[in-house]
Amino acid sequence: MIKEDILSSTIIVEDKNLDLTLRPKRFSDFIGQDRLKENMLIYIEAAKKRGEPLDHILFSGPPGLGKTTLSQIIANEINTSMKTTSGPILDKPMDLAGILTNLQYGDILFIDEIHRLNTTVEEYLYSAMEDFYIDILIDQGPKARSVKIKLPKFTLVGSTTRRIAYCPSLAV
Ligand SMILES: Nc1ncnc2c1ncn2[C@@H]1O[C@H](COP(=O)(O)OP(=O)(O)O)[C@@H](O)[C@H]1O
Ligand SMILES: [Mg+2]
Repeated sequence: MIKEDILSSTIIVEDKNLDLTLRPKRFSDFIGQDRLKENMLIYIEAAKKRGEPLDHILFSGPPGLGKTTLSQIIANEINTSMKTTSGPILDKPMDLAGILTNLQYGDILFIDEIHRLNTTVEEYLYSAMEDFYIDILIDQGPKARSVKIKLPKFTLVGSTTRRIAYCPSLAV
């Protein structure tokens, strides 16, 4: 029956595959938003010429505008991998530490709904973004000590549906 088909898991898998194939993979398939694409291409080209990972990016705009897609396109264009997480699921700084220490040089870390990060995690992220270092507490009680861990240089791409008062021209 059609109804059963609609509710079955196979349809969901097919839908997922369809979504993956529908998502544009390159800037050439990304429709409209010419000024943004132009800016992004210059930004990417400049980073390539410097031989460095991209600087961090913040995309802001309503749902469905293409923030996630753009981030994946950037990863494809610079030939790097994208790790995805989301603001509300990062509960403690150590959750973020696990993700950060698994990144490789030049990787993109995509944080969806970044405005929903709690302040403790947010402050922890700042030092990772700015200095590429994080502090981790090893052991407990009197033996506890803080250890600095160096991170590979990565690019944070934040995505938010919240309107932001100021953002460089790269915002969607
Ligand atoms: N400019 C665009 N060109 C082609 N497809 C787009 C464009 N913007 C969004 N889409 C498509 O719309 C859907 C939602 O985009 P998504 O990146 O998930 O939006 P957001 O992350 O901003 O909520 C995706 O299937 C995406 O491929
Ligand atoms: Mg999204």
